[in-house]
Amino acid sequence: MSLLAMIKPKGPSGFGYGSTAEDVTAGLSLNGKTYLLTGCNSGLGLETLRVLALRGAHVISAARILERAQAACASIKGLTTPVACELAEPASVRACVATVKRLNIPIDGIICNAGIMALPKLNRAYGYELQFFTNHIGHFILVTGLIDALAADARVTVLSSRAHESAPKGGIEFDNLSGEKGYSAWRAYGQSKFANLLFAKELARRFSGTARAANALHPGVIFDTNLKRSMNVPRVIFDPIVTLSNLLVLKTIPQGAATQCYVATNRALAAVSGQYFADCNIAKPRADAEDPLLARRLWDVTEKIAVA
Ligand SMILES: NC(=O)c1ccc[n+]([C@@H]2O[C@H](COP(=O)([O-])OP(=O)(O)OC[C@H]3O[C@@H](n4cnc5c(N)ncnc54)[C@H](OP(=O)(O)O)[C@@H]3O)[C@@H](O)[C@H]2O)c1
Repeated sequence: MSLLAMIKPKGPSGFGYGSTAEDVTAGLSLNGKTYLLTGCNSGLGLETLRVLALRGAHVISAARILERAQAACASIKGLTTPVACELAEPASVRACVATVKRLNIPIDGIICNAGIMALPKLNRAYGYELQFFTNHIGHFILVTGLIDALAADARVTVLSSRAHESAPKGGIEFDNLSGEKGYSAWRAYGQSKFANLLFAKELARRFSGTARAANALHPGVIFDTNLKRSMNVPRVIFDPIVTLSNLLVLKTIPQGAATQCYVATNRALAAVSGQYFADCNIAKPRADAEDPLLARRLWDVTEKIAVA
């Protein structure tokens, strides 16, 4: 545990920077609950899978390919159903939706956890910048495809990031979703995480008047996951920085998975929707991420991309 995690005080929820996924679900029975989790095979997703299953939940565990989902499920104890879901391939996402619907079980929560970060060069899927497509469009197709399968009080929990603050001015460059008018790895990652946040906000608005909820979150900064795999930093430079940062300020994977486990399952949050969380407490996103018109515009644009 880092020095910061040891000394930073807990927030109003009773949890904080140093809380782990096991801490925030201690004493909670998730028997009879079913969650769909993306990116189940690595980092925060694998820890979320382990802890939700430990508390008795049935976790429908999605990875890019079925073998990775199966391996992740085999590595932990509990009730799981492995499924394939390649988020950058709409046909795969729709096949996942169909598979989940065939299970014919109400889904108590979807945790949109999978993601890619800061690809050094511009990559595209179907003409759109790949981080935007994977992190946002893929999850949009998945969640909207499963609305009918959601339990009456289901929660959709979307992994955003504090990196949403490095999204371009205005949040989303609607005239540059392909990246052809300029690409920066971190700006594009920021935009995709800004889109994740707007998606949760607009979904929450559409859920209003029901017992369903949608929220977004920043899990903290955790260097021990595979997220940094695309960054071209030589290990000889990166490894000492990671070691020192882990000691001083960073979160461990169990701490990083805490906020999503908390937001997805904590009973006190039953009526909380449309919020952005960090360190297991409500936090403030960049001001323009609170703009309902922007969230609605992104939804409309995404819907058109998703059906094309
Ligand atoms: N770690 C941090 O410091 C941090 C900070 C802020 C936000 N986050 C967010 O936290 C989430 C989890 O990240 P992590 O740190 O646990 O990273 P990770 O270890 O790299 O896990 C990412 C997961 O997403 C999956 N994934 C990537 N591309 C996919 C695609 N096209 N289709 C389906 N699945 C795909 C990966 O599958 P493969 O293994 O098959 O590639 C992996 O299971 C991400 O959304 C990330 O943006 C992380």
